[in-house]
Amino acid sequence: MTRRIRPATAAVLAALLMIGPVAGTTADDSEDIIKYRQKAMSSQGAHVSAMSQIVRGKVSYTDHMKAHAVGVAGVAAHVKSMFPEGSDFGVTDAKMAVWENWAGFEKAADESREAADALVVAVDSGDEAAIGEAFKTLSQSCKGCHEDFKEEDD
Ligand code: HEC
Repeated sequence: MTRRIRPATAAVLAALLMIGPVAGTTADDSEDIIKYRQKAMSSQGAHVSAMSQIVRGKVSYTDHMKAHAVGVAGVAAHVKSMFPEGSDFGVTDAKMAVWENWAGFEKAADESREAADALVVAVDSGDEAAIGEAFKTLSQSCKGCHEDFKEEDD
C-alpha cells in the first residue's frame, strides 16, 4: 500500500521546513508586530503602575524603583522601531496618525525616552522629590503620545 502525504501534513512539513533557515530573513508579519508591540507596551504599563504604587507610598519597595525605571527606559528606546510602515492594519489601536505624522510620533517617542532616562538618573540620586517629578513627567509623556497616536481605551 502506498502511503501518501495528505495535503494537511504536507502543509505542516512545509511550514516546519521554513522555520529554521528562513526565520529572520523575511519581513515580520504585521499581525505579529502588532501583537509584539502591544505586549511590549503592556510591560511599560505594568512597570509604570507598579512604580506609581511606590511613588505614592502605597508600598515601601523603594529599592525596586530602579528595576522598573530601567525596564521602561530600555523599551522606550525601541518604540519607534515597533511601528514600521505597513503595520497599520490588523487589530491595532495605533491611529493612522502614527505614519501620517511620523515626525510628530518620533518626537513623542524621543520625549518619552528622555523622560525615562531622566527617571533612572533621579532614582540613582535618591532624591524623593526629583523622583516624584521625573515619574510625573514620564507618565505625561506616555499619555501625550497616546492622546495623539492611540485609539482611546486605556
Ligand atoms: C510615541 C508614542 C507612544 C509612547 C511614548 C508610549 N506609547 Fe503606549 N502605545 C502607543 C500606541 C500607538 C499604542 C497602540 C499599539 C497598538 O495597538 O498597535 C500603545 C499601546 C499601549 C498600551 C496598550 C497595550 C495593549 O495591550 O494593547 C499600554 C498599556 C501602553 N501603550 C502603555 C504605555 C506607557 C506606560 C508608556 C510610557 C512609559 C507608553 N505607552 C508610551 C504609543 C505610545
